[in-house]
Amino acid sequence: MIINTTTATMLKQLILLSVLLCTTCHVTLAFTAGLLPNGDFELGPKASEMKGTVVIGRNAVPEWEISGFVEYIKSGQKQGDMLLVVPEGAFAVRLGNEASIKQRAKVVKGMYYTLTFSAARTCAQEERLNVSVAPDSGVLPIQTMYSSNGWDSYAWAYKAMSDVAEIVIHNPGVEEDAACGPLIDAIAMKALYPPRATNKNLLKNGDFEEGPYVFPNASWGVLIPPNIEDDHSPLPGWMVESLKAVKYIDAAHFTVPQGRRAVELVAGKESAIAQVVRTTPGRVYALTFAVGDASNACEGSMIVEAFAGRDTIKVPYESIGKGGFKRAILKFTAASTRTRIMFLSTFYTMKVDASLCGPVIDDIKVLSVRNPRLV
Ligand SMILES: *[C@@H]1O[C@H](CO)[C@@H](O)[C@H](O)[C@H]1NC(C)=O
Ligand SMILES: *[C@@H]1O[C@H](CO)[C@@H](O)[C@H](O)[C@H]1NC(C)=O
Repeated sequence: MIINTTTATMLKQLILLSVLLCTTCHVTLAFTAGLLPNGDFELGPKASEMKGTVVIGRNAVPEWEISGFVEYIKSGQKQGDMLLVVPEGAFAVRLGNEASIKQRAKVVKGMYYTLTFSAARTCAQEERLNVSVAPDSGVLPIQTMYSSNGWDSYAWAYKAMSDVAEIVIHNPGVEEDAACGPLIDAIAMKALYPPRATNKNLLKNGDFEEGPYVFPNASWGVLIPPNIEDDHSPLPGWMVESLKAVKYIDAAHFTVPQGRRAVELVAGKESAIAQVVRTTPGRVYALTFAVGDASNACEGSMIVEAFAGRDTIKVPYESIGKGGFKRAILKFTAASTRTRIMFLSTFYTMKVDASLCGPVIDDIKVLSVRNPRLV
């Protein structure tokens, strides 16, 4: 194609114009991925809108609407003998008894979105958070500490039922000390594109490449909480039915066997992920997967148990905590039209700093085997 200089100049101007117009894009376009406006709470209330650390006034925290006992916390602040640290920037909020924070975001009706946020438990018993975007809601237990610094990132997903999502994080707790309750920081959102099963893999999202937003500088991964159903999973295709979370890890901060994302089974038999695949009874299938370690100083003898319907395999893996993986295969004959594929870690593993860790799984495939004798 021949483009004369006038056309080229016009094109350049057109591009420049669209870039200029796009400085207001965030106002008009639906949210795609990243921190919510003031999602890290770096913009705080005016001094006149605070009483000590307690925020007064529904709209005192820019971009948010608050209700109940909400505190504005500065990193390094002391609570008793506990030093409060903040994962993103220097500020966070604390949700006391029945407190909540709320923000509206422009989304695309019918699409799935996942929220990622960081939370730290403080002094209350059985701390939980109710995350909701009507009509969806989920109660996330945050009692178990997975990291060593007290902060963990959690993911939760919803389906947008209109083009505005009202995101609410609520502490349903009622403690004697109204100030007891979790610290919240760094709230991000991402549109999800649920992958489909293909003729190259009967499992959806077997490589875990589609999943929740991961902060570029958060080196502790994102927890996929328990009681996650597959139709509303922040890890599309997969459900977490066990008591404890699994951890979503990224190649920027961990070693992953394949691609950019993987799953670390962080809580022994209490932490499992599963997916149901369509199968033809009597046909032979191969479940193949990678087992490794995240290069996060998680050392020891590990075993990953994989299940395909009634068949199972135990894959041992010796981790020196420096990264690496091996491949495994489980051949099975389908007993019904739906076969449940599940993974868990036989043992609990802990790092020297007492944080929970475990084996990594990735690159999971289920394929029909035409000639079973060749596998
Ligand atoms: C993470 O990165 C963002 C953007 O680059 C920065 O504003 C923030 O302060 C960083 N957080 C930490 C904990 O380093
Ligand atoms: C969580 O919050 C939503 C929205 O406010 C509410 O409908 C739901 O009942 C709450 N769930 C629990 C268990 O409190």
